[in-house]
Amino acid sequence: MKKACVIGWPIAHSRSPLIHNYWLKKYGIDAVYEKKAVEPENVAHFISNLATSEFIGCNVTIPHKETAFQAVAKADEIAGRLGAVNTVYLKDSLICGTNTDGEGFIASLRHAHPAFALKNRAAVIIGAGGAAKAIIGALLDEGVKKIGIINRTRERILDIQVQFGSGVYEISEINDALKSCGLLVNTTSQGMEGQSSLELKIQGLNPNALVADIVYTPLETAFLAKARQLGNPVLGGLGMLLHQAVRGFELWFGVKPEVTAELYELIAADVQKAQKQ
Ligand code: ATR
Repeated sequence: MKKACVIGWPIAHSRSPLIHNYWLKKYGIDAVYEKKAVEPENVAHFISNLATSEFIGCNVTIPHKETAFQAVAKADEIAGRLGAVNTVYLKDSLICGTNTDGEGFIASLRHAHPAFALKNRAAVIIGAGGAAKAIIGALLDEGVKKIGIINRTRERILDIQVQFGSGVYEISEINDALKSCGLLVNTTSQGMEGQSSLELKIQGLNPNALVADIVYTPLETAFLAKARQLGNPVLGGLGMLLHQAVRGFELWFGVKPEVTAELYELIAADVQKAQKQ
């Protein structure tokens, strides 16, 4: 029986098994997807030995994405520019790595807001970590023209500017940036349950701007609720989690799975159940 898994440390709260096992059942594929706690010092070994292990591939989550990038035999261009791998697969026995976070964000946006245009728009990104980089790269690929970044640590903004070039700038006047942007995305963990909340005044935001958050616990953050109250279209983080899983499933099992309303409800119910505990 084919087997895939997600590796992380810790891994107990990962929802990837729920997602992939839902698809395996739906498409009648005789395989299983597990979660595997792998300690940081064992990640490189786990990945380099994948070809001779019981697994045909794996997802990689926090804090192993950078180590996984180092450990694969071949990383594709997207993983290369992020220096991070979230999906590992075998191709002709070669251990390959890619990163589907950026495409997961775009697919989630297109799924929820099919008429929303990205080309030549301006975006504001909150945060400058791994998730920000993945989303910024994907937005530039989609033709977004200008991306302003705000982040607690300034040096990380400068790193992103160096990497992605003149389309990306450091925001000096947040109100002006919010007034003129078409898309506003929180890529930090602020607003996640148990974390500090995201304090950003958005009263002057362009009323047509789409406001997105990558946080999905809670399913709708206070930040998104505020944007919704202002009348702006919003996008929660759960869709990105579901859509980033699509390509790995296709690479391992040969079927491109669909992100259905039923799958969304299944994972949303699990998030809500965990919140009540
Ligand atoms: P990820 O891979 O999920 O993006 P990361 O690379 O650690 O994780 O990046 C986390 C982002 O959230 C960063 O932009 C971080 O800001 P710093 O670069 O200043 O560290 C931001 N972040 C996390 N907690 C924060 C907080 N309490 N206040 C402000 N920013 C925060």
